[in-house]
Amino acid sequence: SKGGYDHFMLKEIHEQPQTIRDTLRGRVSDTNQVMFPELKLSREQLLNFNRIVIVACGTAYHAGMVAKHFYEALLRRPVEVSVASEFRYSDPIVDQHTLAIIISQSGETADTLAALREAKVKGATTLAVVNVVGSSIARESDEVIYTYAGPEISVASTKAYTTQLIALYLVGLYIAEQENRLGPTVVAGYVELLKALPAQVAQVLKLGPEIKELAQGLSKSSSFFFLGRGFDYAVAMEAALKLKEVSYIHAEAYAAGEMKHGPLALVEPGVTVVCFATQSALYDKMLSNVKEITARDGGAVALVKDGDEGLDTRSVDSVLRIPSTHDWFMPILAIVPMQMLAYYIAAALGREIDQPRNLAKSVTVE
Ligand code: F6R
Repeated sequence: SKGGYDHFMLKEIHEQPQTIRDTLRGRVSDTNQVMFPELKLSREQLLNFNRIVIVACGTAYHAGMVAKHFYEALLRRPVEVSVASEFRYSDPIVDQHTLAIIISQSGETADTLAALREAKVKGATTLAVVNVVGSSIARESDEVIYTYAGPEISVASTKAYTTQLIALYLVGLYIAEQENRLGPTVVAGYVELLKALPAQVAQVLKLGPEIKELAQGLSKSSSFFFLGRGFDYAVAMEAALKLKEVSYIHAEAYAAGEMKHGPLALVEPGVTVVCFATQSALYDKMLSNVKEITARDGGAVALVKDGDEGLDTRSVDSVLRIPSTHDWFMPILAIVPMQMLAYYIAAALGREIDQPRNLAKSVTVE
């Protein structure tokens, strides 16, 4: 049942504090160390990997993009993220020194399953991050880490994504710890931040009424751009996918620095540009991107951390303020308002929402 919500999508958005908590439970100790009793991988095996490939489709692929940034920062190894349907036909460079991380909510996506098989045949060790227990991908992978999102009914994925991020963060910290890249105190500091996320997501959910109001106006936009850099670009990809699938408004994500290499030509009144500015090192660059947009009369919405004083609020049409954590973990807090924005724009337009046209929850055809 929808538990009093108009749609499963909204219910599932609101379940995220709990599903994040559930995905952390049993994986973090009292002393804030990461534990994975389900993993059989030895320290020697972990040290033997010289690269990581991440393979998935859609929203799960976007979770993989966040993980790439995190793992490269933390593990200092090359990490490649591929869309499963590309990976499987590309004769991928994978061998016994490769850790292949396969991400899938359903565990049944045909291209993702085929990619898993391809990685295995080539000698990689496979680790699947899956929500549905006992699914094909879970059964065929060498290692499985379950997300505890519970059943996701809405075709547009929300709580599966944030629990995938949690699982992927934990895997990174676990590997870093096993390899002695991070000491126990540092790990404990990060785990403390992860444990604070459910309460912070609950805070973000309180933006609901504000976002609903904003959505009324934005639902008249002809097109959307979502811009970010680094982790924010990965989140922008997911935000654009959410909006297009439930509202049917054209939306695309761009690495903010790429706008002036072409897409800026499309910015005009009626086009809304959502700018993510949650990454400290890239903050000033994002502010100049905001100016590029408003100078061309595009509507600008900025997503910033609470307490951010750097943004001239007169330069944008609206500002969404979210709680702050380490830049690495900001994607969890940044996507939630975007899920709500997609939902409320779709609602304002009277869309189906839980079952968008042309889409299926589990894509078992290739
Ligand atoms: C988007 C969405 C899809 C899925 C994709 C992969 O909201 O739901 O893009 O993320 O079809 O599905 P799984 O994770 O089941 O492999």
